[in-house]
Amino acid sequence: GPGRKLALRGDLLDFTAQPDWGQLDSPAVRFQPDHWLLIDEAGRIAGTQPSEPDASWQQVDRRGRLILPGFIDTHVHCPQLDVIASYGAELLDWLNRYTFPAERRYADPAVAAAGAARFLDALLAHGSTSAVVFPTVHKGSAEALFAAAEARGMRLITGKVLMDRHAPPELLDDVAGAERDCIDLIQRWHGKGRLAYAVTPRFAPTSSPAQLAMAGALCRADASLYMQTHVAENREEVRWVTELFPEARSYLDVYERVGLLHERAILAHGIWLDETDRQLLAARGGQVAHSPSSNLFLGSGLFDWPAARASGLGVSMASDVGGGTSLSMQRNLLDAYKIQALSGQRLSAWVALHAATRGAAEALGLQQEVGHFGLGTLADVCVWDWARGPVAQARDERVAPGHEPQALHERVFAWMSLSDERNLHSCYVAGQCRHQRDS
Ligand code: GUN
Ligand code: ZN
Repeated sequence: GPGRKLALRGDLLDFTAQPDWGQLDSPAVRFQPDHWLLIDEAGRIAGTQPSEPDASWQQVDRRGRLILPGFIDTHVHCPQLDVIASYGAELLDWLNRYTFPAERRYADPAVAAAGAARFLDALLAHGSTSAVVFPTVHKGSAEALFAAAEARGMRLITGKVLMDRHAPPELLDDVAGAERDCIDLIQRWHGKGRLAYAVTPRFAPTSSPAQLAMAGALCRADASLYMQTHVAENREEVRWVTELFPEARSYLDVYERVGLLHERAILAHGIWLDETDRQLLAARGGQVAHSPSSNLFLGSGLFDWPAARASGLGVSMASDVGGGTSLSMQRNLLDAYKIQALSGQRLSAWVALHAATRGAAEALGLQQEVGHFGLGTLADVCVWDWARGPVAQARDERVAPGHEPQALHERVFAWMSLSDERNLHSCYVAGQCRHQRDS
């Protein structure tokens, strides 16, 4: 229960730095097989050790299982669980046919509250303990997410969606009303416990220039605010932005001109950024939330991860449900691997898992709180089965005995490729068990 010192036994895996692209024996990987992870009364990590701790610790023996930091999903839409796996459309058509109708229902606070609870429980059941989330245009939908995350002790970043044009009338706000709602939500939720506010223009086409300017002014007034939006996802979308903002050099430049690009900016997709864009976003300290399953499902394109790295641009991992087809980070990491394979590249399990844990935490400025097993961080921790079912078990047994670096990468890569939320045994948030299989 709360306040009790806890020790979890299993195979601990986390990162101490960013692994190099393609390096399989990376010194950034910290693998501590059959160790104890110590969690203090405040839910913080107090250390790791090979030996059994004394009786003052509640011992939870998960030996033979893999223990990872909770995943951080840096771009996902709460109301879109209702339209996940909707057939046959590219981005703009998909928004109009499926997404906007689903988001309209969130005008009802009861729908928003039930949706937020269901969504956060689903994240936890998939091993994601932190998230950067889009609700809807409705103030109450952001409110519902903050309240539900607070109740679960989760690290959550969200903010009311800004959209004042090019969407159904029921989903539009206006500049003055939206500004008032943002200011009120910021005052009540930003910095409260583990919650933070993100200024959230949906994407350039659904905000007027005046609304984008207002969003930029909010960011300039408080450097601790996050900013989340979409950029350069789909070719037709990029063409439309060129038409709507003829004065801008590029899609990304629309955001730059109003001051939306900063250290706490999270831009989903970024498939069609050019080198000038990548350099600019890197210089501003922003990051791309790479959303591989969405990019494949909506036919948006193949993200050039090595080019992003070469420009010094941070890349974190995101499910982008409901454009994405699974909240499972492993499913998304495998899609990321396949996208790179199509481009003649190989994504290591280390680069992939780092981008879903420590790398995402660093890009969000949260590395003191989450993303790894460093002393004093909050114990957001997941316990996973190495293998479920005969195929994965046989594959795992081929690589399990050796712990030399090459074999370890092979084992973890097979785990990443063959596992999903069904492998999740239990999930802890700040040391509290928030999800356990079959209970
Ligand atoms: N661009 C603008 N809105 C959306 C959205 O809801 N999902 C995705 N994938 N792209 C968007
Ligand atoms: Zn999205």
